[in-house]
Amino acid sequence: MNFNQVVQFNFPTTIRFGAGAVKELPAYIKQNKLKNLLVVTDPNVAQLLFFKEIINNLKQHDLSVEVFKEIHKNPVKSDVYKGTEVWDQTQRDCIIGIGGGAALDVARSILLRINHREDLFKYDDLIGGDIYVTNEVPHFITIPTTAGTGSEVGRSAIIADDVTHQKKILFSPKLMAKIVFADPKLTFDLPPAITAATGMDALTHNMEALLAKNYHPMCDGIALEGIRLISLSIEKAVNNPDLKSRSQMLLASMMGAIAFQKGLGVVHSLAHPLSSLLDIHHGLANAVNLPYGMKFNIEGFEEKFGRIAKTLELKDESGQGVVDYLFDLNNKIKIPHKLRDINVKQEHLDVLADLAIADFAHPNNPKPVSRNDFRKLYEEAY
Ligand SMILES: NC(=O)c1ccc[n+]([C@@H]2O[C@H](COP(=O)([O-])OP(=O)(O)OC[C@H]3O[C@@H](n4cnc5c(N)ncnc54)[C@H](O)[C@@H]3O)[C@@H](O)[C@H]2O)c1
Ligand SMILES: [Fe+2]
Repeated sequence: MNFNQVVQFNFPTTIRFGAGAVKELPAYIKQNKLKNLLVVTDPNVAQLLFFKEIINNLKQHDLSVEVFKEIHKNPVKSDVYKGTEVWDQTQRDCIIGIGGGAALDVARSILLRINHREDLFKYDDLIGGDIYVTNEVPHFITIPTTAGTGSEVGRSAIIADDVTHQKKILFSPKLMAKIVFADPKLTFDLPPAITAATGMDALTHNMEALLAKNYHPMCDGIALEGIRLISLSIEKAVNNPDLKSRSQMLLASMMGAIAFQKGLGVVHSLAHPLSSLLDIHHGLANAVNLPYGMKFNIEGFEEKFGRIAKTLELKDESGQGVVDYLFDLNNKIKIPHKLRDINVKQEHLDVLADLAIADFAHPNNPKPVSRNDFRKLYEEAY
């Protein structure tokens, strides 16, 4: 870092964190004089008991609730357009996203679209589209139900093109939630496989943020603590969950998302094409690629890997020690080691490499990644 240079640090969002936090939602809505709520979720969460309880509680407080849940597993642009139509037809004044990253990203994209009606991908951050996000956006509240993406504290949404499947990133500080109700109890019923995959997404965020090349010592501190909390709680949250492990995972997932305003890296660029092309869950795609991506990053960044290893309290404080830890952790939480075990075929690898090099995440990787590097990494992980 050149200390003659001026840099900007942003820290986000009011977070109400803790078991039962979601019960505060109706009072908050009333205090803010909101009445007509558009709740955005996914079809699966919409069936869960806690979701129905939240909606009933809102209705009992004389609030008008419209639920939009028609979203894809890996959300696409047309999902956002459909949700915006519901907003238009039902005269809402607030958006509440309830769910994992998929639902929260769609909620945030509808929020953007309400007063920005050009083609959604005109606002793609990778082509500088954030400068067109100039109009006001409605009141936005997020309620996470996975401990993974941390999208609830984020300022961006990841939406794929319906046709090309390429993932685009919509970004603006205006897209931050006014408040997050982070209630670990909502994550109690997450099945082990989703807990594992989403938890590894959070670990990937914290690790990639720490390694990302931008200067942001505040994010680095948060990322290291996020890594520590995950290392303490992920196995328990997957195999034998309790309030403490669920709480620590939820905190660490928000910390990951706060930290990755600094940037992500090679692992996310390896993962994104697996979701957009093959519909593989984002967290699972990261989890399988994480040890390989980290190994690729060791050379030249041994000092940072040493800090990660110390945080993880590893005996072997080398980069390889961290990579071994990750393979071992994947074993313990039943994440496969190989892409072939998550439905990737040899003939996909070239297309995946083409998509990965076009992805938005790797320009912040500590070292440059070429198409050839992506191809080799896929081959190694295959
Ligand atoms: N905006 C960001 O900063 C950001 C960062 C990383 C990833 N993402 C995006 O987030 C998405 C992935 O999000 P995710 O990992 O949270 O998964 P998800 O939202 O796809 O949810 C995974 C599954 O878990 C179910 N589920 C959610 N909460 C549950 C609960 N409490 N109990 C039982 N089941 C529950 C969902 O219905 C779904 O079937 C991807 O689209 C990815 O691109 C966004
Ligand atoms: Fe992620």
